[in-house]
Amino acid sequence: MLFSYIKAKWINKLIIALLSFVFVVPAMAQSGDSGAMNLETMLIVVLSFVLIVSVLILVIGIYLVKIIKMILLEDKKQKAMQEGKVYVPQEEPSWWTKLMNKATDAVPVEEEETVMLDHNYDGIHELDNHLPPWWKWLFYASIVWGFAYLMVYHVFDALPLMHEEYAAVMEDAQQAREAMMALEGNNIDENNVELSTEPAILANGKAIYDRECVACHAPEGQGLIGPNFTDQYWIHGGSINDVFKVIKYGVPQKGMISWQSKLTPSDMRDVANYVLTFQGTIPQNPPAPKGPEGEEYIPSQTEEAPAEPAVEI
Ligand code: HEC
Repeated sequence: MLFSYIKAKWINKLIIALLSFVFVVPAMAQSGDSGAMNLETMLIVVLSFVLIVSVLILVIGIYLVKIIKMILLEDKKQKAMQEGKVYVPQEEPSWWTKLMNKATDAVPVEEEETVMLDHNYDGIHELDNHLPPWWKWLFYASIVWGFAYLMVYHVFDALPLMHEEYAAVMEDAQQAREAMMALEGNNIDENNVELSTEPAILANGKAIYDRECVACHAPEGQGLIGPNFTDQYWIHGGSINDVFKVIKYGVPQKGMISWQSKLTPSDMRDVANYVLTFQGTIPQNPPAPKGPEGEEYIPSQTEEAPAEPAVEI
């Protein structure tokens, strides 16, 4: 009777699942390129194994309880038969009903008399019910929780308070931002930009110039809508800092747009350095260079000349 109850199919499935787990997990672990399981995968494997085993134990437990109930029932039936009676199962309240009764401790309407107080206001009676136990449980639990909270957060300072957590998160974000800026050369601005003749910088500068700037400044820097870059005359100053600043903020009212939203700081440094390489060169192709605009810029002694010495035009 006992074994007929456990379906053979169910057992088969269980065995197949267990076997596949035992074989698949080591195979998965070995497929990694290093061959060795790292700590994280090991933890996942162990935890999933524990999870699977506990689910199995739970399922087996439920089945065992069912089987025991069956055996007891059978026993009762047999006893009833021996006494020549027909077994009538008694209706037991479900666990849910039992729990609800316990949690509310409500007196059934039929027994209301037992808790009725003896005063009577215009036909309105008062019942002396107990406080609902579920409510009391919550109350006690909140006291316990409050005490634990006080100890953890205020007495032992074991965990950070809300504003400390906020400060820590902000700190992390700031560090991440700084790391990102340093990585991408994004902390370059008009004050710290440096003159450079590094081929990689100039090559990237040329690529950007040819893509974004030729339309107005012409391929050889001789000027078109925008001013000429080959002479020594600058409207906004000819130092690397001045040039970077004009590129970054633009001169919108004169038709030179601000590039800071389109180019990264390192790109602006590259194109600024490239612009300065036009200094003193002689454009070969028409249109002819634009005449001088602005003031003549003479690099200071301390500043390195960007390209070859200026050539007379
Ligand atoms: C739509 C046309 C246009 C484009 C595109 C343009 N510029 Fe200009 N640029 C101008 C004009 C016009 C001026 C003159 C502004 C003034 O008169 O103050 C100028 C001025 C400048 C100056 C200052 C020159 C001086 O004499 O002080 C620099 C440097 C400059 N541009 C670089 C660039 C770079 C680099 C790019 C590409 C990323 C670029 N420009 C794209 C129109 C343009």
